[in-house]
Parts: sequence; structure tokens; C-alpha cells
Amino acid sequence: MENLKENEGVPETILDGSRFVRACLRKPVDRTPVWFLRQAGRYMQEYREVRQHHTLVEICKQPDLAAEVTITAAEKLGVDAAIIFADLLLPLEPMGLDFEFQAGEGPVVHRPVRTAEDVRALKTDRADQLEYVALAIQKVATHFKDRLGIIGFCGAPYTLASYMIEGGGSRNYIETKKLMYRDTASWRLLLDKIVTVLTAYCRQQVQAGADVIQIFDSWVGSLGLSDYRDYAFEASKRLVRAVQAMGVPVIYFGVETAGLLGEMAATGADVIGLDWREPLDEGWRAVGYAHAVQGNLDPITLFAPLEVLELRVKEVLRSAAGRPGHIFNLGHGIVPETPVEHVQAVVKMVREYGKQGVGSRE
Ligand code: CP3
Repeated sequence: MENLKENEGVPETILDGSRFVRACLRKPVDRTPVWFLRQAGRYMQEYREVRQHHTLVEICKQPDLAAEVTITAAEKLGVDAAIIFADLLLPLEPMGLDFEFQAGEGPVVHRPVRTAEDVRALKTDRADQLEYVALAIQKVATHFKDRLGIIGFCGAPYTLASYMIEGGGSRNYIETKKLMYRDTASWRLLLDKIVTVLTAYCRQQVQAGADVIQIFDSWVGSLGLSDYRDYAFEASKRLVRAVQAMGVPVIYFGVETAGLLGEMAATGADVIGLDWREPLDEGWRAVGYAHAVQGNLDPITLFAPLEVLELRVKEVLRSAAGRPGHIFNLGHGIVPETPVEHVQAVVKMVREYGKQGVGSRE
């Protein structure tokens, strides 16, 4: 196999960082790379200590702190990639929307976008105010050099628009869909504005050293296939292509996406993130083998006894069938009460059982 020759005599430390990026590009790797959605968060003692002294937004806005939280989590777990500590909602502020995180409630946008005038008032020329995220990425990149893959991220246009319109999380997305159906011109203008800001934001992150960008379409599962096609696909595709043109692979992730996977893959994203509800082999078939996939252990299996957890980890790896282009992850984020030792145990299991590329079926 060509890659083995290419890697001969190269110290393992040099291969570590590229293992994740190679898998994003469906190149063979020595073993399946692994990282976790929400790997830095409240389940980790070190993060809780930082949080005692700072709000979430303070951590995001102080590059030293954001970098420290990112690095600590990645090193403690021994993963192959570090996702920058930031939040999906940060770009709302330079667009002119104030928000806060209320304890136990998630994000709250104070004056949600509801009318054509509200959309028109949104600013698109202040993305440089988000520079603190790029500065944090620079620090993480300096720390890890090529040892780990560095992931920058942003929300997808639909998911960010839904936060702006609902003012927070939502069950039925009624306000979002009202604007979408009743004033489609304003809806499209809103998505255009979001894509403009996110493109600039992602460029800052790539220039600062992000190896890959993940686009979170966390709430896209609230759309049926026709509505995804008519109201969300095009803006996502434009963002995916714009980021790829910066020279990095894109991971496109959503939740409850079983019916949308083929269409999500049509955006051209290099990697599709699978949520935990669908078996990985079925998800990959729907995505198509021209794309890599990331996932998709149910995050709540991290509460199971280790024997059960091991069965589930092996099941995910078996479903990937040794094909190049599988990145092991959860099918959604780690929740606050998760035992850290179980997350570390999963990393060990993937290191042990996730030998792909070598002896792969292709
Ligand atoms: O390692 C990491 O992944 C941490 C970096 C990160 C955060 N938010 C920090 C954070 C990332 C990648 C995000 C993305 C994000 N933010 C998403 C997409 C991922 C997903 O889960 O689908 C979404 C939907 C948000 C919006 C958001 N931020 C919500 C809904 C919440 C509340 C969730 C809760 O459990 O309370 C947040 C807060 C948030 N963002 C926390 C963290 C670590 C927890 C709150 C805290 O520390 O006070």
C-alpha cells in the first residue's frame, strides 16, 4: 500500500496530526482517528474549575483561556484532534444581536429576528470582531505543532438562523418556518448575510492554523427533505464550497438527519457527521462512499459498564468495515455527568481495535 511506503521511517509523532486530516480526505491511515463532540466541557473537572472563575463567553473571548481549555481536554483524553473552544452563537454579536447563556436554559437571544426590517438591520461587515477565536487557534496550533489535527468550527446557516429567529432552542421551530414560508425573500437575505459573516469567520480560523472546519447543523433535523432542499441546502453548499476553497476539508454534521444524508452529502462536504440514531453502515451507504464519515457512538453509552461500552465501540468500528475515511466520534456531544474515565477508555479501545487502512478491504 502506497501510504505505508510513504510513511516508512517517519516517526509516529509526525503521523499523529495528519492521521485525522488524512481520514477526512479518505486516505488510508495506520488506525482510525478519534475525537469527541464537546470534548471540553462540564463533565471535566479542569473545565469546571476554569468555569468557576469565568463565564462561558469570557472563556471564549480570552484566547489564553480558550486555548488552555482546548489543549487540556485534548491532552487528557489522548485524542487525535482538538476542537477550538468557542460557541456556535458567537457570530450573532457582530451581526448586532445580543445573547447570553442562562444557567440550565442554553442560549437566549434578547431581541430575536422576526421581520424583514430585523433582517435588513443585521450587519455583515464586522466579522473581524471575532478575531479572538483565531487568536486562540493560533495558540493551540503553536502548542500542538503537527501532533494533533486542529478543528475550527461554525454553525450552519439554517441552525444559526433558527437561533436568531426563535431566540433560543425550540421544539417546533414555528417562528423560523413562518419566516421561511411567508417571507422567503427575507429568509434568503438572512441566510446570505449569515454565509457572508461565516465565510470571513472561517477564513480567520483557517489562516490562524485550523486544519479542518466543522459546520454544525445541529437543528437541521427539524426540516423535512423538501424543506431542506428548498430553504437550507443552497446556503450550506455555498459555505462548504467557500471553506474548501480556503484549502481545508469540511465536516458537515447534523442531528436526526437520517432522511437528509444524501442531500447533505450533495453540498460536497468532505466528511458527513452521523448522529447516533442510525447504524453507521446505513448512514455511510446513504451518504455515499465518495465521502468520509464521522461518528457515531451514542453519547449516553458512556454511562454503560465498560463491557457494554466496548461492544458498542466495536460495533461502530465494524460498521465502518475498515474503509478509509472513518473518524471515530460520538453521534452528538458529551453530556455534563459523563465519567471521564469512560471517555478515556473509548480512546484506548479505538487505538486497539481501530486498525484500518492496514489490511482494509479495499
Ligand atoms: O469541546 C467542545 O466541543 C467545546 C466547544 C463547543 C461549545 N459549544 C462550548 C460550550 C462547541 C463545539 C459548541 C458548539 C455548539 N454550541 C453547538 C453545536 C454542537 C451541538 O451540540 O450540536 C450548539 C447547538 C451550541 C449552542 C449552545 N451552547 C447550547 C445549546 C448550549 C447549552 C447546552 C447546555 O448543555 O447547557 C451552549 C453552552 C455551551 N457551549 C457549553 C459549552 C462547554 C456548556 C455550558 C457552560 O459551560 O456553561
